[in-house]
Amino acid sequence: MRIGVDYYPEQWDKEMWQKDADLMVKTGVKLVRMGEFAWSRLEPRDGQFDFAWLDEAISIFARHSIGVILCTPTSCPPLWMYETYPDITQVGPDGKRIQTGIRAHRCLNAPMFLYYAKRITEQLAHRYARTTAVVGWQIDNEIEAYPCTCEVCRGLFRDWLIDKYDNLENINSAFGNSVWSGEYSDISQIQPPTAYPKAWQNPSLCLEYSRFASDMAVKFVNDMTMIVRRHYPKAKVTTNTYFSENKPDYYRMYELLDFVAYDNYPPIMLPEDDDEIYSHAFYLDLMRGVKQKNFWVMEQLSGPTGCWMPMSPTPRPGQIKGYALQAMAHGADTVIHFRWRTANKGAEMYWHGLIDHSNVPSRRFIEFADLCRTAMKLTAIETTELVSDIAILYSPDNDWAFGIQPQTSGFEYFEQLKLFHAAFTRYGVNVDIISPTADLTKYKAVIAPEMYVYDQNAAENIYRYVIKGGTVVMTNRSGVKDAFNNCIMEPLPTVYRELIGAEIVEYDPIGDMEQTIKDFAGNEFRCSKWCDIMELTTARAYAEYEDCFYSGSPAVTMNRYCSGVAYYVGTVCSREFYESFAGNIMKQTGIPRLKDLPKGVEVTTRTNGLDDYIFFFNNSEQEVEITLPKAMFSIIDGGERDNFTLKPFDMDVVRK
Ligand code: GAL
Repeated sequence: MRIGVDYYPEQWDKEMWQKDADLMVKTGVKLVRMGEFAWSRLEPRDGQFDFAWLDEAISIFARHSIGVILCTPTSCPPLWMYETYPDITQVGPDGKRIQTGIRAHRCLNAPMFLYYAKRITEQLAHRYARTTAVVGWQIDNEIEAYPCTCEVCRGLFRDWLIDKYDNLENINSAFGNSVWSGEYSDISQIQPPTAYPKAWQNPSLCLEYSRFASDMAVKFVNDMTMIVRRHYPKAKVTTNTYFSENKPDYYRMYELLDFVAYDNYPPIMLPEDDDEIYSHAFYLDLMRGVKQKNFWVMEQLSGPTGCWMPMSPTPRPGQIKGYALQAMAHGADTVIHFRWRTANKGAEMYWHGLIDHSNVPSRRFIEFADLCRTAMKLTAIETTELVSDIAILYSPDNDWAFGIQPQTSGFEYFEQLKLFHAAFTRYGVNVDIISPTADLTKYKAVIAPEMYVYDQNAAENIYRYVIKGGTVVMTNRSGVKDAFNNCIMEPLPTVYRELIGAEIVEYDPIGDMEQTIKDFAGNEFRCSKWCDIMELTTARAYAEYEDCFYSGSPAVTMNRYCSGVAYYVGTVCSREFYESFAGNIMKQTGIPRLKDLPKGVEVTTRTNGLDDYIFFFNNSEQEVEITLPKAMFSIIDGGERDNFTLKPFDMDVVRK
């Protein structure tokens, strides 16, 4: 397994490059990523290119047998470009151009930006695509579905809508524009959702703008990728991503790319409250699920974070190494740390890398070196992947739509996904997080939380899965909206009513208020946020409400449908409910459970079809004891044992 670092040759004197490369080799670093912000060094003036320094940097690393991930620098256009073409800058919701002098403020659709972006990408690809040391490409940096409202984006948005709806009449009808006299009589009246407050704007328009902005980001990534591939069809190309406010549709963004690359900054301080759902593995599993394939970490936590927020505490002993191995346990094949050296200049000087300002490698660096040595021992898992019996469905449409209309106080789309994920994680199983339209046939249980916006393919997929014998768990806020983000005029959960064998006769959006439910075995759990009040048709109650005027009516149901089973969770419960419920689902569907795992211990398995490798990660601040059912061989230290102790954030990997 490979460990790498993010490196910025343009920020350091040349004499340091050689010394850094020497130390990297000694430490066991296999890859460096570079170039994503270096446009002003690569093209100091319009059309004047300077690749000499990059040639030199690449050849230094090549001589050290360190592979280079070369990034296209389009995240940071040089200031001469902004000066000559001010309209390449994004326009914010207030109608004003955002300020230059930072980064990522270019509009991905601005024609002059695109002209220059294609040209610099072309130049880089022409020069380096066949360079052996360049083992991969990163397009831009952390591209988002930017909600730009410049004239060009407005025009493209109008074209995009007309492409989809043919004419204004169809748009008016789909958006319900008769409400508040919002009917378009001329295409020029279509504007991105910029009015304030946002919540007062048309939800159909808002959802379409998110889809449009995502499409534009995807198009940009694909156009740049094509340029690189034209020069070298075998080039491995990706772009790095994170969970930003303007998330693109990850499934589409990575469709044509070779692998997913995620920027992974797990929390340094764990929640004090035991009840808080916490599992950073959720994000790792979601990233693996995007292409249903192993992924890379392009940026990994290396020190105290800071700069645009107050500095965080420094990573606790064990976290530098442990969090990198945790990513591998969830499908990362390569982990690249952000960054080799902490910047001593510029806006990011307090977002710490592995080597501090002191320039003296210290505790975190020593731990990183230990990680590099450990990673080298993990060759056996290089050809392995995670195989899961359980899938949770994540949908960008639902994510955007809940962002546009949060349902009740404290209600967040991710909360229920995370609650289910954390519950299954407690039993030491692999969990996939995948698209609602992905193939579900291989799963023993599928969790489909909050299937809010109608997607015919997803609905058919879920029905087909249950008809053929699958077990699905659906939840509140399903079947609510049509594909245009309008409420469907039928009893909820509309299209899923037949599947779950129940009908919602009323709902109670209780927000932060708390109530109680009792399951069939007499266990009580707290619930909040939302209560669906249901009447059963063919379903049976699994749990009932204990409070309010609907006390005694079903809160959670179970329905046999064709050869399968459909559960429905009508409310949002406390963590304990999901643990007990997940345990029952696993029992029903024959998914093996590891019981009595110490709190915080995460267990996942990677397999090559012949051998299984079990990862035990202590995601807690306490030392834990693990007892295995039989003696197993540790591929980390080569010992055979049937029990072991893990220090905080420590990992062991055993062959089954
Ligand atoms: C990422 C970004 C990096 C760096 C890092 C730490 O979002 O891609 O360039 O800024 O965060 O702040």
